[in-house]
Amino acid sequence: MIRSTILGLGSYVPDRIVTNEEIPFLDDQHVRQTEQQTQTNDEWIRARSGIEARRYVPNDGEWPTSRLGQIAAERALADAGVDAKEVDCIIFATLSPDIHFPGTACFLQTRLGISGENGCACYDIRQQCSGFLYGLQMADAFIRTGMYRRILLVGAEVHSHSLDYTTRGRDVMVLFGDGAGAVVLGPEENDDPTSGVVYTSVGADGSGAMDLYLKVFEIAKAPFVQYDWKNRDENSIMYPQMNGKRVFLHAVRSMVVATKKALATTGLTWEDIDWFVPHQANLRINEAVAQYAEIPAEKALNSIMFYGNTTAATVPLTIDHWRQAGKVKKGDLILSAVFGAGYTFGAGIFRV
Ligand code: ACO
Repeated sequence: MIRSTILGLGSYVPDRIVTNEEIPFLDDQHVRQTEQQTQTNDEWIRARSGIEARRYVPNDGEWPTSRLGQIAAERALADAGVDAKEVDCIIFATLSPDIHFPGTACFLQTRLGISGENGCACYDIRQQCSGFLYGLQMADAFIRTGMYRRILLVGAEVHSHSLDYTTRGRDVMVLFGDGAGAVVLGPEENDDPTSGVVYTSVGADGSGAMDLYLKVFEIAKAPFVQYDWKNRDENSIMYPQMNGKRVFLHAVRSMVVATKKALATTGLTWEDIDWFVPHQANLRINEAVAQYAEIPAEKALNSIMFYGNTTAATVPLTIDHWRQAGKVKKGDLILSAVFGAGYTFGAGIFRV
């Protein structure tokens, strides 16, 4: 039977490392000042989230999300040995699109030099931190039905420009970083149920939608954009808003349930799985998930310490980080669980 398989993987993070020591001194252009700008500190950030540093793109107007996605995509294509011209579908997961419309996948397609009258299908998906697994499920279904043969799945974010660099926004601001990850998927004739993409299951609970959101505009109102640049401090519409405690509790519960369901449905055990790769929102969330889902500590991979929360990019970025470090090997079986704004959630089991 036709199964889908991951042919290649790539990731990208910007060069600029912003440490917890530096972050209190950043102004709203994320330029380091001598005076402290935000009441926060390394001890609080490390203790509550496990984050030590994150990466930021240069603030020169030249780094939209599609550009980070392009670098990750080119690395994934090279890893797969697939030419960009062979890609017949792009799925781009992001909550920080280049502009409101058109979707970022269209910009990525042009960046890859594959636009034109016969250009491939381009999807943007909006499932925040669950975007990569939602995209993996879509790609898996497309390939199994024979719809597409070379799917480029990208998760990428530029968060650094949309954070509130004041004490008011510190609960969210310290958590997020910029980054991108990508995989290339294709079909494989294989009857082994543990090959390729083994399992995906995703869901949502929209009743939690306003526990974590960024409005930017409200289409129900006229004018639908109410940003007053002279009064930036009052414009909470410009910044992400989060009920951190509720998000934390739901994230742990959802990822534990999704992980247990993935094992129960497939009949696999931790003996079979090489690595657990959870979404990287908070190291404390991931430690709690590992405890309640009884995941062997040595199988849990995290990267939030180095990159913060990169939303749709965290899963491929974490896998690629640990592959480059020599831990993750070609063909390893990964169980990934995710949770994000929406609420959205899910789990997947797949070989890399
Ligand atoms: N630095 C210093 N102090 C801070 C900071 C900060 N960056 N942020 C908040 N505080 C203060 C608060 O103001 C509060 O002070 P008070 O007691 O004087 O009122 C105190 O620290 C404790 O705040 P809490 O909100 O109770 O802290 P908590 O232990 O809940 O940790 C955190 C906050 C880290 C945000 C936690 O709730 C969390 O991680 N939630 C989940 C966040 C998350 O995962 N978001 C994204 C997931 S979904 C997605 O990725 C899209």
